[in-house]
Amino acid sequence: MKRIAIYNIKPEMILAKEVYSRDGRLLLCKGSALNQEWVDKLADYGIPTVYVEGGSAGNEVSVEGSKPAKGMEELKRMYQGNVPDMITIEVREEAERVVQEIMQDVKTGRLIKTNKARKVVENIVTQLINNRHIVGKLADIRILDDYTFAHSVNVCILSISTGIIMGYSKIRLRELGIGALLHDVGKMRIPDEILNKRGPLTEKEFEEIKKHTILGYELLSEHPDITSNAARISIQHHECYNGSGYPWGVRDEEVHEYSKIVAIADVYDALTADRVYKNAILPYEAMEIIIASSGYQFDPKTLRLFVENSEIYPVGSTVELSTGDVGMVVNVNRALPTRPVVKLIIDADGKDITKEMQIDLMNNTTIFVKKILNFRKKAGL
Ligand SMILES: [Fe+2]
Repeated sequence: MKRIAIYNIKPEMILAKEVYSRDGRLLLCKGSALNQEWVDKLADYGIPTVYVEGGSAGNEVSVEGSKPAKGMEELKRMYQGNVPDMITIEVREEAERVVQEIMQDVKTGRLIKTNKARKVVENIVTQLINNRHIVGKLADIRILDDYTFAHSVNVCILSISTGIIMGYSKIRLRELGIGALLHDVGKMRIPDEILNKRGPLTEKEFEEIKKHTILGYELLSEHPDITSNAARISIQHHECYNGSGYPWGVRDEEVHEYSKIVAIADVYDALTADRVYKNAILPYEAMEIIIASSGYQFDPKTLRLFVENSEIYPVGSTVELSTGDVGMVVNVNRALPTRPVVKLIIDADGKDITKEMQIDLMNNTTIFVKKILNFRKKAGL
């Protein structure tokens, strides 16, 4: 079984797992043969990836069909590994299931099962620490299923990854992780007709939505095993560095570091999760939007760490450029990792480039990385 992006689905591929809509309805049964009609429907439903039979389990991005050129076959042989797993499918699925259960409990007025959430966070912390040598830690989760619950899990993973970069102890990682996992739990106390409304919200409706921060804090602070710093994430994750956020409009020094991390992870994941929609945002665009908000929406110090360590196109990864050329990343600009130096390998016509040719995307701003074809682990690890 392998997970592939829906735009890489080939006719007659067999579905290895059921596909559910955001509201939990069964859309496709396991064993179904996929076709173009269903690919279009999945895109309409906002589902970017599915599991199909064959290959190994993992968060794989299929490179099939990217380029039929002979050079591509060689590249595929050179880079046998696929996108590395930071988190196993089992841990991710369990995390999404637990978030779903907790959200449902909150909706029906039951208490949050914090022990289950703590176990999920513990598993994520352990796997992220064990896999921290794998490069591509942010990029490898950017094509996740856009189910409601996947977002909470993604924000949790991104936040813990950032906490690891910042040198947090395990205790702090757990504290950050549980607050990140449950940061939007207050949304379950917002009426469905507002929460699920399609189209723009009225000012009054937006005021209602804003209350999810306070409601979340109230829910989480009821639990003695959720620390105040973890609970504070729910009330502070929409506050901005310059004081223009909500609910209180507090400024930088009044916002806890955990909340600053989750604020960035929340926006980054929301931007990249929309890739199958008409207004698809590529990872480099999401990162550049976030970088542009430094000092306004986001704390520059926390953001710099998030961006510098994201290595969204790490050295050694193979990328396709907007020109159609394929190349290997040979250098990363730490301040702007979305614009690496790429050594060209195959041209847009699929022909091998034998002459040494490098392109620095910092100096060629009209060209960008269209997609990652493969990652590579850090040398020597
Ligand atoms: Fe939120």
